[in-house]
Amino acid sequence: MKTHENIEKVLITKEEIAEKVKETAEKLSADYKDKNPLMICVLKGAAVFFADLTRAMDIDVETDFMAISSYGGGTKSSGQIRLIKDVSINLVGRDVVIVEDIVDSGNTLKNLKTLLDARGARSVAACCLLSKPSRRTCDVGVEYVCFEVPDEFVVGYGLDYAEKYRNLDSVCVLRKEAIKS
Ligand code: PRP
Repeated sequence: MKTHENIEKVLITKEEIAEKVKETAEKLSADYKDKNPLMICVLKGAAVFFADLTRAMDIDVETDFMAISSYGGGTKSSGQIRLIKDVSINLVGRDVVIVEDIVDSGNTLKNLKTLLDARGARSVAACCLLSKPSRRTCDVGVEYVCFEVPDEFVVGYGLDYAEKYRNLDSVCVLRKEAIKS
């Protein structure tokens, strides 16, 4: 296991992640059979999850990437989203699955769903690795959730703090002393 001195504890092990990713990929493969879904990775946090999830699916899928910023360098959501990179595939009539690392306030996902809906997608669903229901400030549906987590600052398996720790292979809680207020 890769770890780091600023990690307080491992919250979800790589084995637990692998098992849940496989299970979720099976569900998606069954639900989207013959639909050729467009799987959209929301960079950067979802990149690791996206790579494992899509490779575990046993149906035809297409992939594309978006980059959205909502957090800046800190730990609190600003409540606004900024589109940094857009998809290149036309969404009209497509069954879209947004793949996120974490749904926190829900603001990013709600805005994204509205945006992709407006572009004529046939359906827009969301699949996230982590959800923090206690932090939700808006009403947004998350169709596939791998793990619900408490309100702690989590990093690893794609998730960062100030761009670090994305390469840890488990989901970990960061030591409070490592977070600059
Ligand atoms: C994170 C995460 C979601 C969003 C969730 O992205 O990937 O996109 O925040 O927060 P919300 O539910 O409160 O809107 P972040 O801006 O940290 O960028 P990153 O994926 O590049 O790390």
